Amino acid sequence: MRVKAVKVGGSVIAPKNRPLNADIPAILRLAEELSNYLRDSGNQLVLVHGGGSFGHYLVKECLTRDGELRRECFSRVAHYMMMLNSFVMEALLSSEVPAASLPPRSICFFRGKLPECFVDAVKELVSKGVTPVLFGDVIPSSTGFEVISGDMLVWELVKELGIKEVVFATDVNGIYTDDPKKNPKAKLLKEVRADEVLREAIEGEVTSSVTGGALEKVKVAVELGIKGVKASVINGLVPGNLYNALRGKVEGTVIWF
Ligand SMILES: Nc1ncnc2c1ncn2[C@@H]1O[C@H](COP(=O)(O)OP(=O)(O)OP(=O)(O)O)[C@@H](O)[C@H]1O
Ligand SMILES: [Mg+2]
Repeated sequence: MRVKAVKVGGSVIAPKNRPLNADIPAILRLAEELSNYLRDSGNQLVLVHGGGSFGHYLVKECLTRDGELRRECFSRVAHYMMMLNSFVMEALLSSEVPAASLPPRSICFFRGKLPECFVDAVKELVSKGVTPVLFGDVIPSSTGFEVISGDMLVWELVKELGIKEVVFATDVNGIYTDDPKKNPKAKLLKEVRADEVLREAIEGEVTSSVTGGALEKVKVAVELGIKGVKASVINGLVPGNLYNALRGKVEGTVIWF
């Protein structure tokens, strides 16, 4: 039995084109793919989902207005993330995934720039055959409150649980040489090493630059000192992609750390 991690992007389940927008058909389909994977492989999963339209709008509004996350914003963002999480949970349970939600704000806090999470809570569920479900959230920090992105959280869990494989489902076909939504000439990367991606991004080499949400996925992992891990980035909007990637057939980008 192996444990793999999955991060389902907010970009897939809650597109940011308008606030509090959930793509229920996508959530139901992905839950079914995860259920099929658990059944067919006998492996276990740790699941993290992003905030998408339930997190980003409110955080942005709070930060623009106050310059920091005040406790009113903390409470409100926490509440809306629970709402998105409850859609995900409902779908997982109806697909017969033995899932249980672990709100990150109750097991993580920020000390400086890096999170510290009480991962025993996650390990305990995994050891009992339960699929823990976590999400990008707001968590306490030494000075107030901070956002922990789903990407950072999944890497923290990969590190602490010694997980060797993680799949990121996003709304594009993988990692490109540039933002594919802005640059039609961007090329899809099939297989890369994490240090190469970072070096190119930092040096802004030739035409190649991995930016935004995509770069964040690599940067955080390197900051956390992730090594010996295979990360796949696939398009979660394409039916079957998540199941296939978990089974080792990646239609997207493989990044080696
Ligand atoms: N080089 C790149 N390769 C791939 N996508 C890129 C690149 N540069 C920028 N992007 C953008 O990154 C987006 C995915 O990141 P984003 O943070 O929006 O999604 P997510 O991580 O799946 O969602 P969430 O942060 O809500 O969990 C894509 O829609 C794409 O437009
Ligand atoms: Mg992101």
